[in-house]
Amino acid sequence: MSDKGFILWFTGLSGSGKSTLATYLIPILKEAGKKVELLDGDEVRENLSKGLGFSKEDRDTNIGRIGYVANLLARNGVVSITAAISPYRDVRDGVRAKAQVPFVEVYTESPLSVVEERDTKGLYKKARAGIIKQFTGISDPYEEPLKAEVVVHTGSESIEESAKKILAYLKSKGLV
Ligand SMILES: Nc1ncnc2c1ncn2[C@@H]1O[C@H](COP(=O)(O)OP(=O)(O)O)[C@@H](O)[C@H]1O
Ligand SMILES: [Mg+2]
Repeated sequence: MSDKGFILWFTGLSGSGKSTLATYLIPILKEAGKKVELLDGDEVRENLSKGLGFSKEDRDTNIGRIGYVANLLARNGVVSITAAISPYRDVRDGVRAKAQVPFVEVYTESPLSVVEERDTKGLYKKARAGIIKQFTGISDPYEEPLKAEVVVHTGSESIEESAKKILAYLKSKGLV
């Protein structure tokens, strides 16, 4: 078993399953002997990035901080899982370029119509009503990854199927 850390970087629309899959994988990775830490977007914005908004500049600052901390942990043997929308390709690629550890980008792909229909947090409804501004997918951009290590189709797969794909990739690279 490898004791190397790495960054498991989820990206995708709100409600596309980033937190669900991250949370699902944590006990499995721990069972495999890994130390694991989750940097979840919502929690980071309450702490590390408190006060930042949703302009491109603030989003980029937020993602830069998440990437910085994820790398610090991972270079000390921790599996750093991040679960933030991280909508901008150049910023994700910037974090990847700075990483001193393997960087595994997981795109939780789902049609907007599906996540909007699920609207697990009621945010799409508010975004459509204009109550929330600069909402990714509605009134703010989302740039799909062009070379994600893993793409899961969370609009049509089960959580188990998506998680299995991610674990298969990690095993194939000897990371787990
Ligand atoms: N294959 C799948 N992977 C992840 N989530 C899924 C999948 N299929 C259905 N879902 C559901 O989609 C929702 C995703 O919500 P969440 O994980 O909070 O998204 P995010 O963190 O990306 O905003 C959950 O209600 C989850 O049960
Ligand atoms: Mg989430």
